[in-house]
Amino acid sequence: MLSLTRSFARPTRLASSLARAAAFIHTVPPLDYPYDALEPHISAEIMTLHHTKHHQAYVTGLNAAEEAFAKAETPKDKIKLQSALKFNGGGHINHTLFWKNLAPTSAGGGKLTGGPLKAAIERDFGSVEAFKTKMNTKTAAIQGSGWGWLGYNPDTSKLEIVTTPNQDPLLSHVPIIGIDIWEHAFYLQYKNVKPEYLKAIWNVVNFQEAEKRFVEATQN
Ligand SMILES: [Fe+2]
Repeated sequence: MLSLTRSFARPTRLASSLARAAAFIHTVPPLDYPYDALEPHISAEIMTLHHTKHHQAYVTGLNAAEEAFAKAETPKDKIKLQSALKFNGGGHINHTLFWKNLAPTSAGGGKLTGGPLKAAIERDFGSVEAFKTKMNTKTAAIQGSGWGWLGYNPDTSKLEIVTTPNQDPLLSHVPIIGIDIWEHAFYLQYKNVKPEYLKAIWNVVNFQEAEKRFVEATQN
């Protein structure tokens, strides 16, 4: 009887431990373009470090926090992990979106052709140029590190520009375009001149991806 219990207990524990391990494995998604493909607007050095080191650190932190959360036995222990989950989880979500948000100029980056997104931008901001100027101004004004967003507000059915501090993900709106304004995103190339980075990034914004997100958001 004892041996029967053991033989059933082992696979159950193993299965449960494998299931737990699988749930914690987030990974950095591969880029759709080479590291140097966004030059001269974003250097290969920035892209390489940003993708392989910074994003990886958020993924590693998220996996560790989720594993610790599953093992935490008291509400207090779980609460202690909230900030690590938010910071690393937000970092993973934001950067995953950011890579898709960019495209080489040779692959259509920077081109906003006529369609539902352009029409909505013109409706809500007056013109594409006015929108870019407003988004850059609000993003540059973030104190410390954070993200500037073009988001779709499902309550007003409008596009709005919002910012989030640190690695907080955008929860109040559906993210359409996100700009990383952490120093690791621009400092090696643009030093302290944030406006130059913000001006350059529009040459490699993937408006096709942004329009896809916008259309999905308006259909939900
Ligand atoms: Fe970043």
